[in-house]
Amino acid sequence: MNILVVGGGGREHAIIKKLKESKKVTKIFATPGNGGIASDAVCAAIGAKDIDGIVKFAVENKIDFAVVAPDDPLVLGAVDALHKVGIKCFGPCANAAIIEGSKVFSKDLMKKYGIPTARYESFNSKESAIEYLEGASFPIVIKADGLALGKGVVIAEDLESAKAAVVSMMEDKIFGESGSNVVIEQFLKGVEVSVLAFTDGKTVVPMVSSMDHKRALDNDKGDNTGGMGTVAPNPYYTPEIADICMRDIFIPTMQAMNKEGRVFKGCLYFGLMICDGKPYVIEYNCRFGDPETQVVLPLLKSDLLEIMLAVEEERLADVNVEFDSGAACCVVIASGGYPKKYQTGMPIDFSNVEDKKNVVVYHAGTRLENGAIVTSGGRVLGVTATADTLEKAIELAYDGANAIKFENMHKRSDIGQTALKALK
Ligand code: AMP
Ligand code: GLY
Repeated sequence: MNILVVGGGGREHAIIKKLKESKKVTKIFATPGNGGIASDAVCAAIGAKDIDGIVKFAVENKIDFAVVAPDDPLVLGAVDALHKVGIKCFGPCANAAIIEGSKVFSKDLMKKYGIPTARYESFNSKESAIEYLEGASFPIVIKADGLALGKGVVIAEDLESAKAAVVSMMEDKIFGESGSNVVIEQFLKGVEVSVLAFTDGKTVVPMVSSMDHKRALDNDKGDNTGGMGTVAPNPYYTPEIADICMRDIFIPTMQAMNKEGRVFKGCLYFGLMICDGKPYVIEYNCRFGDPETQVVLPLLKSDLLEIMLAVEEERLADVNVEFDSGAACCVVIASGGYPKKYQTGMPIDFSNVEDKKNVVVYHAGTRLENGAIVTSGGRVLGVTATADTLEKAIELAYDGANAIKFENMHKRSDIGQTALKALK
């Protein structure tokens, strides 16, 4: 089969590498892909938001199956558009992708169906939001309704900063129309767990759990980023918590979407907070997480394409979804300065990492320039290692990450340490 993967980050590289293991795959294309993906797939410079361009490319290249990975094209209806020309896809239609596309929608869904989440109110005017804040207790969480590159969440410690966040979202429109509505919600204190789940609207199959490290610097200091590293499994996700999640969150969410006439087919991402032994939904994403995918898929033993086809054809219950019992760690290497200002175009030296066993380097922000790989984004690479134990996986991932060099690179040195402590 000819496969198209839409997107061009570390997540897409991990998806492509796993798909390549499938015997059913003839050729893989990526739009737009990146410098590293170009070694595993045929890349075409079509932006992930260019839905017409993607559809045209898919038709011209006789694509049999498309995997739409990023949030933007899903919310914009890429799957609907591909279906229209008869191409099967992995990923939700726009009417289901709204579970990530609108925080007001997802919070109202959880309230309506009794799915545990932080208490909240939503607002469509700056004045009413500020009036509410004046009677609130702190810290409090302010979220832009729409997509905001993972930056639309502010945890405000006091009234002053809460008001400033509302003004920047609703008046200054720093996220454009995404900030026309805001959700203001209770701050939950606990431990975070990410769970990605395959679902076809009939069955939900959670993948191995993971833990993201969102802050730029060690010990969870510095700015929020797209993710500086991950480990899987997440030790806080105990079998007891997993059972509660299945019963109170995963199945009810799938059923709620069905009842709303918004059948969700694809990968549903549950961002969970465990507070005093009870899980709450912090956020839903309508897609694989990045960099969670870079630790989850390397542990998948089953054929990813078979699973994805089964999701599209609503026969997920009949396929095998099996994970390795070991652990994985992904260390992200970023451009110095990320998530603020950073330089690109730095040549990357991979010469010392090539022969490392159980280590794979996923490219996130790279491009090919005169045959050489140079940096092209904030998060540049994700170095993943798998092993029998988390301790060994962390050691191997750092061994790999430390062997890669480019000017002004930055990585955290403590990815996995929280999980390791929790295990001990
Ligand atoms: P999001 O962009 O929705 O993933 O949110 C970014 C981060 O903000 C999450 O990973 C949490 O660490 C934090 N967060 C979001 N909502 C809450 C909440 N209600 N209570 C505490 N922390 C939160
Ligand atoms: N790592 C969080 C996300 O993909 O949104």
